[in-house]
Amino acid sequence: MTAAMEVRAVVSLVHGTYFLPTAATPQLLLLAVMLVYFVRTMRPRQRSTCARPPLPPGPAPRPVVGNLPEMLLQKPAFRWIHRMMKDMGTDIACIKLGCVHVIPITCPKIAQEVLKKQDNNFMSRPVTFASKTFSHGYMDATLSPNGHQWRKMRRASPPRSSVPPDSSGFKISRARSSSIVDVRRVARHYCGNITRRLIFNNRYFGDPRPNGGPGQLEVEHMDAVFTALGVLYAFCISDYLPWLVGLDLDGHEKIIKKATETVSRLHGTIIDERWRQWKFGERQELEDFLDVLISLRDPQGNSALTMEEVTVLTLGIAIATVDNPSNAVEWALAEMVNNPELLAKAVEEIERVVGRERLVQESDIPRLNYLKACLRDAFRLHPVAPFNVPHVALEDTTVAGFHIPKGSHVLLSRIGLGRNPNVWEDPLRFNPDRHIATHDLKAEVALTENDLRFIFFSTGRRGCIAASLGTAMSVMLFGRLLQGFTWTKPASMAAIDLSEGKHNIFMAKPLLLHAEPRLPAHLYYQAT
Ligand code: HEM
Repeated sequence: MTAAMEVRAVVSLVHGTYFLPTAATPQLLLLAVMLVYFVRTMRPRQRSTCARPPLPPGPAPRPVVGNLPEMLLQKPAFRWIHRMMKDMGTDIACIKLGCVHVIPITCPKIAQEVLKKQDNNFMSRPVTFASKTFSHGYMDATLSPNGHQWRKMRRASPPRSSVPPDSSGFKISRARSSSIVDVRRVARHYCGNITRRLIFNNRYFGDPRPNGGPGQLEVEHMDAVFTALGVLYAFCISDYLPWLVGLDLDGHEKIIKKATETVSRLHGTIIDERWRQWKFGERQELEDFLDVLISLRDPQGNSALTMEEVTVLTLGIAIATVDNPSNAVEWALAEMVNNPELLAKAVEEIERVVGRERLVQESDIPRLNYLKACLRDAFRLHPVAPFNVPHVALEDTTVAGFHIPKGSHVLLSRIGLGRNPNVWEDPLRFNPDRHIATHDLKAEVALTENDLRFIFFSTGRRGCIAASLGTAMSVMLFGRLLQGFTWTKPASMAAIDLSEGKHNIFMAKPLLLHAEPRLPAHLYYQAT
């Protein structure tokens, strides 16, 4: 059979005339079948590509593993993703990690489309080994995917809007204070103190140090909480290829199990005893968040939450509370010690609003605008993590003209938004004044950022439940540190090194500063 006959045969087969030359060869049949398959399978796809917008730009994925090999070769993943987006000149990308479409976003308009316009569709969280372990199988309000349990726990999380009195880790003794202070340690333990006072009405799990500082159990608590935060949503391979769970290829499984066990044990000891006290009527007054949770009743009058649910809710609060304020204060202080005129401006505001005869109180917050502007710029420029907590698409949708498949992990980039040169002038410069309204210098500065030009408390159904408390914690910590001490860099240093960590965006090294008390002695913690 000639080539012309073969082509005629194929064409007629495809067009349905069923003409076949008598001596049809197997090769011809194979070719015809392939052609039919090709035409049949391509036609609908062509139709749907016309109807459906393309995926956001990104590297071509390989079968099964997608872009995981590139990601693993260019760790840390967040730096690789941002570098790639910059090279491509895009504010939204699609990276296929295993079977998951990961969608990083660096532009506020697109972020608003996700968390405001389509909030309903992006209200879930990813299913990962670490988040499942820490939330005891998704019992909590922070890490659970969308569903009944998340709604129940979110409703059950009514945190106080104010910082519990007398919980300040600031009250370090004068004897220790005129010396080099590890600001990171102080800031983290201040947040830990507040969390424990809020939940358990007690700063300590065990005995405090003689100077009032954190004891061994409080150190264990904060270490475990920060360890857990470090491995939640940390681009672990099995987050994207779930059939690899159990092999612990990144080592994260062991780490999160241990951290979960530590925090659950420390919280659980108090919760067991408190549960017993309520059960036997030894306790009747609501003194803290734990009492509120234990006393919640369903419409039938039974306990609304199980003991495990109460424990898990408190774990979620612990991880939600400590990292943001402590990180922002450490960075803000570092930037301001390098820019003494900014530091002087903030201290002058505290002098004017509060004076030296009492400590900064929550009632001062509305008038400490410059201080809040400093915190805002620290959150913008130096967020605690490169990405916001991930959101998952419940259905196929279109964002910024691109197709976002159901199940995609949408990552609003905290550094991409906060350092976006199209949004912020001179974005890498720490400049609190950018947050003071030039048309109304007295307008109150708030820490919330609803336009998502950077991420503070975020917004929408998965937005932070505790913006007032988060504001109070951050302002009180920073305000009291600035009010209580004159901060200077150690004499041996020309300037504070503002480098970020290799694998995260904390300061590469904890901030060590010289602290000189500046208030009357009775305002500091008195060692017993
Ligand atoms: C300065 C302090 C704080 C900041 C900057 C902050 C910020 C955030 C952010 C960015 C989210 C994720 C929002 C999203 O997924 O889009 C979040 C969620 C959350 N925050 Fe906060 N937060 C702070 C303090 C607190 C405190 C003190 C509590 C509780 C006492 C808390 C409880 C929660 C909870 C439960 C969620 C999860 C909500 C959900 O998934 O439905 N946060 N927070």
